[in-house]
Amino acid sequence: MNILITGVKGMLGNAVKEYFLAQNCNVYGIYRNGEKIDGITSIQIDLTNPEEVKKLEQYKTKIDAVVHCAANVNVNACEEDKNATDKIHVKSSEQLAKLFSNSKFIYISTDSIYDGVKGNFNEEDIPNPKNYYAKSKLAGEQKVIENNANSYILRTNIYGFKQPFSSSLFEWAYTNLEKKNSISGYSNVYFNPLYVNQLAEVIYKIVENNIPAGIYNTGGVDAISKYNFLTLINDTFQFNATISSSELPGMINGVERPLNTTMNIEKIAKYIDMTKYTTRDGIANIKTKIAV
Ligand SMILES: NC(=O)c1ccc[n+]([C@@H]2O[C@H](COP(=O)([O-])OP(=O)(O)OC[C@H]3O[C@@H](n4cnc5c(N)ncnc54)[C@H](OP(=O)(O)O)[C@@H]3O)[C@@H](O)[C@H]2O)c1
Repeated sequence: MNILITGVKGMLGNAVKEYFLAQNCNVYGIYRNGEKIDGITSIQIDLTNPEEVKKLEQYKTKIDAVVHCAANVNVNACEEDKNATDKIHVKSSEQLAKLFSNSKFIYISTDSIYDGVKGNFNEEDIPNPKNYYAKSKLAGEQKVIENNANSYILRTNIYGFKQPFSSSLFEWAYTNLEKKNSISGYSNVYFNPLYVNQLAEVIYKIVENNIPAGIYNTGGVDAISKYNFLTLINDTFQFNATISSSELPGMINGVERPLNTTMNIEKIAKYIDMTKYTTRDGIANIKTKIAV
């Protein structure tokens, strides 16, 4: 099987690459900066440049599935430069979905397209994104659906780490807890995240099996507060650091954040057994990766 991954050097893209390579797939990976990647066909492209994206024309007949992970996950930066945000989340998604209209197209979306008020959202609930990151990711979903009849919109929330460590929630917490710095976690913010390796496995199952195209909430089985998530990291790694609980007022640096984006995952669970994707297992799995 030939698979094309965008954002292949990112937190999720790298996990998807590793998973598909382990299943003996041929991986084509799009990256923006730095060195080529061993073991795959590395393609250096800035996805916000339509002329560069046209270079992918040569691959379109051989690619079975595209996993579109590239994005700008910096919520504040998205608010500050909406035009640049549209280029990566909306325009590049549209161009790729069109170009690969004969391949399965997996678009990685976000749980923050929901407004975070009622929680336990299902796919029929009307999206109501609260910030520009989420608005543009939702607009990207629409472009993909319009241009690719074989598309899978995976609304998700993820955790994991990069080498060297970056600044995601898990990485920030791990770095501070390891140093015994006391940190604070929001007790009123709820999500049901997946470890990136768990999501990579789900994506593989979608590519491999005959699952209807459509929108899927793709979260873990546990709805957990950010405070409890940090506590689980502290306990799993036996850091014995101090975590206090606090309440998110709804805004960080003037940008609105949804409070309860927990997703109902019954739809995807009709096709894939999601019961094993617990947060406890995800963090335990990370521990084995960090230990090596
Ligand atoms: N992280 C989360 O908490 C979270 C939660 C929900 C949903 N998601 C979604 O999950 C997906 C993966 O997120 P992630 O955490 O793995 O993000 P990430 O680690 O920041 O990776 C994103 C990748 O996209 C690449 N990229 C960005 N702009 C590009 C461009 N113009 N051309 C080519 N490549 C470009 C980045 O390259 P550079 O390194 O060069 O910038 C980076 O490697 C995204 O679609 C995101 O919206 C993430």
